[in-house]
Amino acid sequence: MKRFYVTTPIYYVNDEPHLGHAYTTVLADVLARYHRLFGDETLFLTGTDEHGQKVQQAADKRNVSPQQHCDELSPRFAEVWRRLEISNDFYIRTTMPEHQKVVCAILMDLWERDEIYAKEYEGWYDVGEERFCTEKELVDGKSPAGNEVIKLREKNYFFKMSKYQQRLIDHINANPDFIVPKKRANEILGFLKQPLGDLCISRPKTRMSWGITLPFDEEYVTYVWFDALLNYFSSLSFGYDDDKSGDFWPADLHLIGKDILTTHAVYWPTMLMAANMALPKTILAHGWWLFGEEKMSKSKGNVVKPLDTMDLYGRDVLRYFLMREMTPGQDSSFSQDLIVERNNGELANDLGNGLNRVTKLIEKHFEGKLPEGGDYGDPERELRKLAEEVAGRVREEIRDYHPNGAITEVRRLSGAVNRYLEGKAPWRAIKQEGGREAAGSTLFHAAEALRWVGVMLHPVMPEKCAGLLQRLGQPEPTDFDSLLTWPLLKGGDPVESGDPLFPRYDLESE
Ligand code: ME8
Ligand code: MG
Repeated sequence: MKRFYVTTPIYYVNDEPHLGHAYTTVLADVLARYHRLFGDETLFLTGTDEHGQKVQQAADKRNVSPQQHCDELSPRFAEVWRRLEISNDFYIRTTMPEHQKVVCAILMDLWERDEIYAKEYEGWYDVGEERFCTEKELVDGKSPAGNEVIKLREKNYFFKMSKYQQRLIDHINANPDFIVPKKRANEILGFLKQPLGDLCISRPKTRMSWGITLPFDEEYVTYVWFDALLNYFSSLSFGYDDDKSGDFWPADLHLIGKDILTTHAVYWPTMLMAANMALPKTILAHGWWLFGEEKMSKSKGNVVKPLDTMDLYGRDVLRYFLMREMTPGQDSSFSQDLIVERNNGELANDLGNGLNRVTKLIEKHFEGKLPEGGDYGDPERELRKLAEEVAGRVREEIRDYHPNGAITEVRRLSGAVNRYLEGKAPWRAIKQEGGREAAGSTLFHAAEALRWVGVMLHPVMPEKCAGLLQRLGQPEPTDFDSLLTWPLLKGGDPVESGDPLFPRYDLESE
């Protein structure tokens, strides 16, 4: 059996979750749900990153201890994920003692094998980004991120990252799926043309004490990224009923935003090399959700709260919009107008109308029982062929991590259902002498195609598609293989129309 292990970044608890975090988490959820329907043994991990300066500062600002701050903020992320129907198998918090134990064991092992050493260091430190910058990196006396830097001199511990530079370059070149999209791999290869330094993995407690104490020097805590990246591995040994670290490592897919590409594509693989562990198969860095022209970000404050949008249009419309609108890798703009446009055009009109017509006619003329399919003519054979072709393409798009491509494919089928209905006009046929059988056959085939749509879009809109399938007398889908066979519906199956599944919205005027 195939295994699929997918992760999101673990989010800093320095503020509330916003639409950018919701995007990565929904993307992981949708991919996990598809893989479960493919029959793959699937693990899906998300959680919160709770150590380090950003979190300490956020706690200081609120006048509470960092631990108390984390205990209050982490559940707020979890609550948003619950309301978005996120199906993660575990929720890791880096303050969990089991996680800290794994981090310490790996640090101790690297220390004993001289992969970590101590050194006096003086350099330019970017407080906001929590990292030292080299002289060369400074732009007009500021860090590459544009922050003020201060000169710091201190003893610290360093991981021998430079040692693995060539091996990392070779690995990226030999594995085109390791960093996607390709332009991100090229970015990293460009970065690796310069000599790679060693990585400072400690912070003196005198400067910053909120972190995991180094197992070999208790005056220091671990650099937050060294701690955080290990969550992907540590959770496997304690987050589930049985120890999954043997079976599920390496991870299949780390989903991240392009803001954290270097940490994932340089620090993390070299850490794993030093620890003699396998590298993740794919790191996918998606683009940014923009608000106007700017990146949505907690520090800029121009964020869309996912719950606000969810309250207006419902969770599945938001999930659909996020998946449909962004091509992983490119940036996308967010606006209420666009959500409403997609909802009204694609969900209410294309999909909702087809379903409404079919179920209403069956209720009205066939006592809510699906008519018999009868003989296949060319249009029916074509509809069936298209459904099968789309199902194959959906599998491919999802295996390539393109849910937007999968949605485009399914929309071809829902569009074809509407054209098929228009062509056959069962509402007219039913009124003609001897037309009842032909109208029934049309409704049967349209209903069957809509069933396929419901199964194939279920990972994107679990609640709406369960509703669609329920109207056709079908249960929630459990797997693609047995459900994507034509036809599965049978004459006599119960059909009901109910309220419109995809209401239209007017634009909220502000
Ligand atoms: O970086 N558009 O956490 P973080 C799209 N704790 N995605 C966005 C986004 C936007 N405008 N803004 C944020 C951290 N994201 C670390 C990660 S992992 C071992 C440690 C998403 O709270 C995107 O996935 O700053 C991005 O990479 C992540 O949130 C950063 O979340
Ligand atoms: Mg960030």
